[in-house]
Amino acid sequence: MKKIIIIGATSGIGRELARIYAGEGHLVGVTGRRHDLLYSLQLEFPNHIITECFDVTSPQSITHLQSLIEKMDGLDMLIYNAGYGDVSDVLDWKIDKETVDVNVNGFIAITHFTFQYFVINGGGQLATTSSIASIRGNSHAPAYSASKAFQSIYFEGLHMKAKKAGWPVYISDIQPGFVDTKMAKGEKRFWVSPPEKAARQIVEALRKRRWRVYITRRWWLVAKLAKWMPGSVYHRIG
Ligand SMILES: NC(=O)c1ccc[n+]([C@@H]2O[C@H](COP(=O)([O-])OP(=O)(O)OC[C@H]3O[C@@H](n4cnc5c(N)ncnc54)[C@H](OP(=O)(O)O)[C@@H]3O)[C@@H](O)[C@H]2O)c1
Repeated sequence: MKKIIIIGATSGIGRELARIYAGEGHLVGVTGRRHDLLYSLQLEFPNHIITECFDVTSPQSITHLQSLIEKMDGLDMLIYNAGYGDVSDVLDWKIDKETVDVNVNGFIAITHFTFQYFVINGGGQLATTSSIASIRGNSHAPAYSASKAFQSIYFEGLHMKAKKAGWPVYISDIQPGFVDTKMAKGEKRFWVSPPEKAARQIVEALRKRRWRVYITRRWWLVAKLAKWMPGSVYHRIG
């Protein structure tokens, strides 16, 4: 039985991940701001779900995380899945600020703490749900793609740091394309995956300790195309 924390497990991908891990008999710590949704998850798996209700942007986020680790009596894996993003066509400051607060500041506070925790406590696995949007700029949600690029690049650095030092800390950058949740915005959506399928593929990739993974797998192709497309073409469509 592993001890797994999912930051942002009240809905969508995170909730499905929690269901899979709890169903497999692991002890799963789930977080989010919506207490009723955390509670209903706990009712589904009373012996396998432990809850901690908090906002990742709050200055007390690490105190909450420590309290959850204490309640679980340890930690083997943490997935930073909390995320915010919205279309910001007129460059809305409220949207851009919240995006950076959740996807950058909340993210780095929690993953930095967890990386150090694993180094001190004999190892562990640390994953983030970034996005395929991390690969290039995006005119519709510029802060969102930039914040996800931050997550991806930070995790590549942590992956290299752990490898070079020989620390048993395994880093995974999960890059979903479109998944059918309220986060999936835009009119031109394609290859939209149900959250259950996305979560199953994530669990499989984490079992193999893959350091970067595209969800669903076929999004690998879009990632490669986006990465190598010349600006003269990409800037007209992105
Ligand atoms: N859906 C897609 O197409 C897609 C594509 C690429 C990447 N992603 C990424 O996948 C992750 C999961 O998103 P989803 O699609 O499953 O959407 P979702 O259903 O909206 O889930 C977002 C989760 O983040 C939590 N969260 C948001 N702001 C928070 C805050 N300030 N404090 C604490 N928790 C917060 C939410 O919990 P509360 O609201 O209860 O706080 C919720 O559990 C996100 O990081 C997203 O960027 C999604």
